[in-house]
Amino acid sequence: MSTETVKVCTANFGKGASDISVYKQLGGYSCVSSKLFDLSQFEIIDIVQRSGLRGRGGAGFPTGLKWSFVPRNTDKPVYIVVNADEGEPGTFKDHFLMKEDPHRLIEGLTIAAWALGSRTAYIYVRGEFLSCIETLNKAISEAYQAGMLGENIGGTGFSFDIFVHRGAGAYICGEETALINSLEGKKGQPRLKPPFPAVSGAWNSPTCVNNVETLMAIPWILENGPEAYAALGTLQAGGTKVFCISGDVKKPGVYEAPLGVPLMELLNSPQYAGGIEGKLKGVIPGGSSCPILTAEECEKATMDYESMASLKTMFGSGAVMVINETRDMVPLLKSLGNFYAHESCGQCTPCRDGAGYVQRILQSIHKGEGHEGDLELILSLSEQFDGTTICPLAPSLGMASTAFIQKYRSEFESYIQKNKDKKASRISSTFRPGAFW
Ligand SMILES: Cc1cc2nc3c(=O)[nH]c(=O)nc-3n(C[C@H](O)[C@H](O)[C@H](O)COP(=O)(O)O)c2cc1C
Ligand code: SF4
Repeated sequence: MSTETVKVCTANFGKGASDISVYKQLGGYSCVSSKLFDLSQFEIIDIVQRSGLRGRGGAGFPTGLKWSFVPRNTDKPVYIVVNADEGEPGTFKDHFLMKEDPHRLIEGLTIAAWALGSRTAYIYVRGEFLSCIETLNKAISEAYQAGMLGENIGGTGFSFDIFVHRGAGAYICGEETALINSLEGKKGQPRLKPPFPAVSGAWNSPTCVNNVETLMAIPWILENGPEAYAALGTLQAGGTKVFCISGDVKKPGVYEAPLGVPLMELLNSPQYAGGIEGKLKGVIPGGSSCPILTAEECEKATMDYESMASLKTMFGSGAVMVINETRDMVPLLKSLGNFYAHESCGQCTPCRDGAGYVQRILQSIHKGEGHEGDLELILSLSEQFDGTTICPLAPSLGMASTAFIQKYRSEFESYIQKNKDKKASRISSTFRPGAFW
């Protein structure tokens, strides 16, 4: 099996697989119709653990391990919640996946439900993804009609229902505990952890939150075996990743590639982004929360968790944003500051106030009103986000700002210098020594 050509999550793209009959012709629902119910819950969790699959929503937590944390000995229902909020700037893979291949998500969810002893799942979808929500609802009703969902599936005694829940478009509702609050009809604000959702999540019941792409990898793993999946990736993390590549490339879009693919191959190969437009200046490798890489760092980066960590950034959600030499880093970071300050849920003072400070300093630098010491202030605020907030929203802004300033400092300084020069020339043009003596 060539590792370059294997597609796990995007194999059915462009084939009309949102229709259940097409999905079945392409081999879909084969696990649910055959071997799934012969396997015990623990055997499935073991398979997922051996595959090396890690969560594709951003944090990269091992999926099988997360599933193993869900207790089975409580008298409470177990819920599965699909995180389809997809609000991280630069990320646009999940709604493509759901639109192109919704039945694969339903199949992955059914396998997860069997493994976790759950009979109810919610798909929490960003409210703006209207056509995606329609596609999902249509696919779910087809699955009910085909006996793939509902009571006593295939006469096995196993019953499972899926509900689609529309979010209201807040980035923070992608954080799993804010998402659960929002699902319950409360304010979308993150909860303090522990307890973690696996133990006490939706309606205080054990809840497994997984990303769309994570669950869509499950049918392939069951069909082809955990070793085959693991072999697609690196030694430390198995499988493929669906990357969304945007910015200064010839073919921006959604591409699936093996974990560990060199970043430059992803940007230049005709099977992926097809080449960089202009001269490369930097890449944000995994969504706006991930520190930027310089062009030099990009040359040695491979797209996996370890390589990203060694370059002091993160793999994130696989949102690769490409920036060429014509781009000005000051307005770019200012936009990020605007976004994070706007999306702060307001619970923690360092985030509520600090993100606003960072935003205002960046706005003033960009307006040509920056002062000496502004950059130090941003760096110091960024440090103070660390470990002082309930969720990683503010620390993400801190990490992103620090990397931008450390790696492209001269651009920020030149804005501040222009303000200094402006002031100096104003003083010299109004200062007429003769007026004083
Ligand atoms: C501010 C914030 C936004 C997030 N947005 C998303 C999102 O849109 N989709 C997602 O799957 N995970 C998102 N996450 C990560 C989730 O909290 C969680 O780790 C993930 O859904 C778990 O699924 P996985 O293990 O399958 O990756 C976000 C985290 C934070 C802190
Ligand atoms: S860090 Fe920000 S977004 Fe996260 S809980 Fe605190 S205030 Fe809310």
